[in-house]
Amino acid sequence: ERRFAQFKLVLLGESAVGKSSVVQRFVKDSFSDFRESTIGAAFLTQTVDIDDTTTVKFEIWDTAGQERYRSLASIYYRNAQAALVVYDITQKASLDKAKYWIKELQKQANSDIIIALVGNKTDLQDQREVSIEEAQSFAQGMGLLYFEVSAKTGQGVKECFKQIAVKLPIE
Ligand code: GTP
Ligand code: MG
Repeated sequence: ERRFAQFKLVLLGESAVGKSSVVQRFVKDSFSDFRESTIGAAFLTQTVDIDDTTTVKFEIWDTAGQERYRSLASIYYRNAQAALVVYDITQKASLDKAKYWIKELQKQANSDIIIALVGNKTDLQDQREVSIEEAQSFAQGMGLLYFEVSAKTGQGVKECFKQIAVKLPIE
């Protein structure tokens, strides 16, 4: 018989890096070029079959990246078992913001939280400002998972959530 496990996952990162778009790709397999900035936070769920016997259900909190919502974030990451910290590969400053969130998670979140650094918008290669090597070596040094994805094309999105699912502690 199938085993089911449920986990809370939070997305953090600067406004417009594509957090909501990554979630929309994962949950609805769709993309919109004109997406409204998130207000407060949004809640969605999606399941992933990690093998023939186990299904993981993600309870996803997609937080708002705008500065005015910054102090709300702790409400959403407090009980999270996994976090996607998203930056935009075409915006160097968004990686600095991702580093800020990673520090905050490592100080304030569950000590066993699984954190993934996620570079979004790989469809915009010609505008790239953050190299894979730079982000990957930072992630490695901090003990994080690391992925590059495109919410627009879908590249890497399912794989990213699946890799997190297989890392989660299922009894
Ligand atoms: P906040 O809710 O304000 O924190 O922003 P967000 O991080 O949720 O960003 P959102 O998903 O709203 O996307 C911002 C903009 O980037 C939108 O215009 C999206 O269409 C665009 N976008 C998101 N992902 C991608 C991607 O993979 N490629 C491209 N080219 N554009 C993307
Ligand atoms: Mg959003």
